[in-house]
Amino acid sequence: MEFKIDCSKITDPMAEDPFPFPNEIYPQDWFSELNSEDLFENAYAPLEIDLGCGDGTFLEQMGKEYPERNFLGVERLLGRCRKVWKKAERSNLSNVKILRLDTNYAVKWLLPKGSVSRLHFLCPDPWPKKKHASRRQMCRMDFLRSIHDLLTDDGEFLFKTDSAEYFEEAAEVQESCDFFRTVDWPEEAFFYPITDFEKQWLDEGRIMNRMRLVRA
Ligand SMILES: C[S@@+](CC[C@H](N)C(=O)[O-])C[C@H]1O[C@@H](n2cnc3c(N)ncnc32)[C@H](O)[C@@H]1O
Repeated sequence: MEFKIDCSKITDPMAEDPFPFPNEIYPQDWFSELNSEDLFENAYAPLEIDLGCGDGTFLEQMGKEYPERNFLGVERLLGRCRKVWKKAERSNLSNVKILRLDTNYAVKWLLPKGSVSRLHFLCPDPWPKKKHASRRQMCRMDFLRSIHDLLTDDGEFLFKTDSAEYFEEAAEVQESCDFFRTVDWPEEAFFYPITDFEKQWLDEGRIMNRMRLVRA
């Protein structure tokens, strides 16, 4: 039996996408450090970065709450970057942008040093298998050093995870690190939206662990 496919009926959802997305940072040169002006026109506004931002719910809420600040999400998955664009568009947020890139590369080589007022690392993949433990970025001194170098003098690094094991390991590494120190992070310290993954995990009854670091 012969099957015929009518290709005119097949649509590619990505074919409709603009490239790059209107709020996407697409550097001319992927091998040189960016300037703050390459990210946002009003480069003097405080810059916050959400690493592994997922669908951008956190970014959208932060962008609305703090129109005077700039928010950049870094995310490797195209579909999630598209959602960040769609959210920024529907809420008319010119202060929310997206960079589709690996976070390790972005923090080490591309993002402008000494320019980030707050860096958020929320619910990163916990890599529970022993053979993948080296992928836990919070347990790598070189990753922490890159984060440190991106922050302004009074900048902060905020980390949340539901994985007690990941958190304990990260806390141990942090204790042996002489360039960051922890500060209190009470629940109501400031407006801080719950992320998509956090909501899912809280609904499942899991407990979140949080760490707030400043330059030592
Ligand atoms: C568990 S999800 C958390 C998403 C979001 N932060 C939240 O809390 O809802 C982890 C996200 O980080 C992204 N991600 C993981 N490793 C990454 C990497 N090396 N570079 C860029 N994005 C990464 C994943 O694609 C995913 O969207």
